[in-house]
Amino acid sequence: MPLTPFTGFGPGKAILLGEHAVVYGYPALAGPLSRGVTARAFPSKRCQLSIPPSIRGERRRLLATAFEKAAQATGRPLVRVEVESDLPLSMGLGSSAALAVACARVLLAAARRPASCKQVARVADEMEREFHGTPSGVDHTTSAQGRLIFFRRRGKTDQVKPVECPRPLKLLVALVGERGPTKQTVAALRARRDQWPSRYGRLFDEVGALAAEGVKAIERGDLAALGDAMNVNHGLLSALQLSSEGLDVMVHRLRRLGALGAKLTGAGGDGGAVLGLFLEPEPAVARLSREGVRCFVSQLAGPREL
Ligand code: PMV
Repeated sequence: MPLTPFTGFGPGKAILLGEHAVVYGYPALAGPLSRGVTARAFPSKRCQLSIPPSIRGERRRLLATAFEKAAQATGRPLVRVEVESDLPLSMGLGSSAALAVACARVLLAAARRPASCKQVARVADEMEREFHGTPSGVDHTTSAQGRLIFFRRRGKTDQVKPVECPRPLKLLVALVGERGPTKQTVAALRARRDQWPSRYGRLFDEVGALAAEGVKAIERGDLAALGDAMNVNHGLLSALQLSSEGLDVMVHRLRRLGALGAKLTGAGGDGGAVLGLFLEPEPAVARLSREGVRCFVSQLAGPREL
């Protein structure tokens, strides 16, 4: 074990198009955020996660159980893992997947096992199943890949395709408020879909078509077309009863500030985050911050300024 600890980073994620439908095998488009979770592994007598005392009760148990799954999958290297995050929790930005990817990276490194994106995603999946039950895999796959991807759930062989953008693809991420667990929102939608399968099937078909169109728009550098797909996707998420007054108000606020497209991201429900696609998001971030909105800029793809 080296004197300096192993470190691993798991970025948060933003789903540009296709959340929820992705659970049912439709495509989604997602990319990594600049913020995320950093894990550090120190030599120890046993493989363990340091959980801050402020985390108690059910959350503490869940974290410990999830980490145990990743420890098992990597042969229990003798390390104590500490984590640090600059990602807001329970906002639809993939904080649990980022944690899982950061832990997977340091455990694989400490165990001296190969750590390709696929292997990292496989270990992270063990943790995500504890957090979410039956995740589609889009969150931890995006975090493990660390780049914009087209994702389609296909059981053991998920379809994962990197998507290149010839222009900077920049988002404004606005936080609306903490929301309920993804597991509950996904289960409630499943119950509605089981009751009215053909109506919900039609909406999912349309969401899937938008994700496929979004990929083509990005590859052409046509951000106006991507923005329009995001706007329509928000309308469909609203039709699926996954939006709320707070999310809708923020979507309209970002559009008034010049967003090419704006939509909720992640599971939605009674809170979460809204994405605004802007050519230059910085002035909108400055203005919203002055008005008391928690928000930040993240570039998901495309050439970066040096
Ligand atoms: O937990 P969140 O808010 O990051 O959302 C995950 C995305 C869903 O499509 C709603 C669920 C899934 O497993 O893909």
